[in-house]
Amino acid sequence: MVKDEYTLVLVKPDGVKTRHIGDIISKIENKGYRIEALKMINPTKDKLRQHYFDKVDKPFFPELLNYMMEGPIVGIVVSGTNVVHAIHNMAGATNPGEAAWGTIRGDYGREWPDGVLRNIIHTSDNVENAKREIGIWFPEFKMA
Ligand code: PPS
Repeated sequence: MVKDEYTLVLVKPDGVKTRHIGDIISKIENKGYRIEALKMINPTKDKLRQHYFDKVDKPFFPELLNYMMEGPIVGIVVSGTNVVHAIHNMAGATNPGEAAWGTIRGDYGREWPDGVLRNIIHTSDNVENAKREIGIWFPEFKMA
């Protein structure tokens, strides 16, 4: 049974700095999904800890926190049929050096000389997390 869903996309600081906001929005819209809400955000440590609550004990968490605070990010709520899985696949592999061409990370991401894993975009990985993450970044957003 297919159904309409909502998912969260965050264009990360490197995606904003390398000017791929428009490319990412176009890719989402050209595929037929709807942009429901969109805003530029200067993420706080507190919000990032909420968002990555299950990663706070990982060795890479301090690096992830610094990276996510290198500049503004763009939050986007997207809706459509089975959109969570589709957009997560569209993002590509976590490491942009390994992501397939045609995916957002494969096309716009790259490895960096300082070794920091910057990968352009975050996408919710399941419906439950999408609801939780939208609540963090878009507390005012009402899901139908
Ligand atoms: S894990 O260990 O399996 O939970 O990690 P993974 O699912 O691959 O990634 C979870 C999120 O952490 C980010 N990540 C990193 N950021 C910075 N440095 C390093 N080394 C690193 N490894 C993983 C990864 O991009 C995921 O973030 P999102 O925003 O969900 O893509």
